[in-house]
Amino acid sequence: MKLAFIGIGKVGFALANQFQKRGHEVIVARDDPKSKSVVEALSKNSAFEVLAIQEAINAADVIFLATPFGFNKDILAPLDFKGKPLIDCTNPVGPGISHGLESKVSGAEKINEWATHARIVKSYTIYGFENLENTSFPNHNTKPVMLIAGDDQDAKNTVSKLNTDLGFETLDTGGLAQALHLEHMTLLWVKMVRVGGHHPNFTWGYLER
Ligand SMILES: NC(=O)c1ccc[n+]([C@@H]2O[C@H](COP(=O)([O-])OP(=O)(O)OC[C@H]3O[C@@H](n4cnc5c(N)ncnc54)[C@H](OP(=O)(O)O)[C@@H]3O)[C@@H](O)[C@H]2O)c1
Repeated sequence: MKLAFIGIGKVGFALANQFQKRGHEVIVARDDPKSKSVVEALSKNSAFEVLAIQEAINAADVIFLATPFGFNKDILAPLDFKGKPLIDCTNPVGPGISHGLESKVSGAEKINEWATHARIVKSYTIYGFENLENTSFPNHNTKPVMLIAGDDQDAKNTVSKLNTDLGFETLDTGGLAQALHLEHMTLLWVKMVRVGGHHPNFTWGYLER
C-alpha cells in the first residue's frame, strides 16, 4: 500500500520505517521538506518519498497523523482526505499526564470534526514508539495486541491488515467514541513507563477462552 505520514518524528518514523521494510511505499507528507524531522527521516531511510501534504494525501491509500495534538486543528483545516482512511496516532496530553481534553471527548473525535472527508481510525497510540519500532517478542508465543477504534468498518479492516504486517494482533474495541478509553490506556502506559520505571518494551496481550 501507499502510506502517507503527516508527522515523521518518533512515532511516524518508527511506523514508516517498519512498513517500508515490509514492502509498503512511504510518502512523507510535509509542505516544508527541509523541516528537521523530514531531513532526519530521509537520512535514516532514503526510500521515503516527500510530497506536499495535500499531494501526499492524493497519492496515498492510507494516511497517518503523527503530530503533536495541539497542532492538529490547523494542520487538518486546509486538507481534503477524499474519503481515505486517516489513522489517528496522536494523543491529547494535558498537565501531569492528564487527558488533554479533560476526558470529555476523545482527540480522535475532535480529529473527525476537523478532517474533511476522512474515515478515522484510532491506532498505534496505546504504547510508546519503542513498541512500534519492534513488535517481536521471541520469548512469548502470543503477539502484542493493538487496540483500535473507529466508525468505518472498511477503514478498520485496512488498519487491521497493516497491524498484521507489523506483527500486532488487532483488537477492535468498537466505534470512534471508544478512542477516549484508548487515550486513557495511553496515559496509563506512559505513567507506568516514563514515570514509574516499567520497561518500555512491555505491551498488552489479548487472551480469550
Ligand atoms: N512518543 C511516543 O512514544 C508516542 C507514542 C504514541 C503516540 N504518540 C503521539 O504521537 C504524536 C507524535 O509524537 P512523537 O513523539 O512522534 O512527536 P515528535 O517526535 O515530536 O514528532 C512530531 C512530528 O510532527 C511534525 N510536526 C510538528 N508540527 C507540525 C506542523 N505544524 N505541520 C506538520 N508537521 C508538524 C514534526 O516535524 P518537525 O519536528 O520537523 O517540525 C515531527 O515530524 C503525538 O500526538 C504523541 O502524543 C507518541
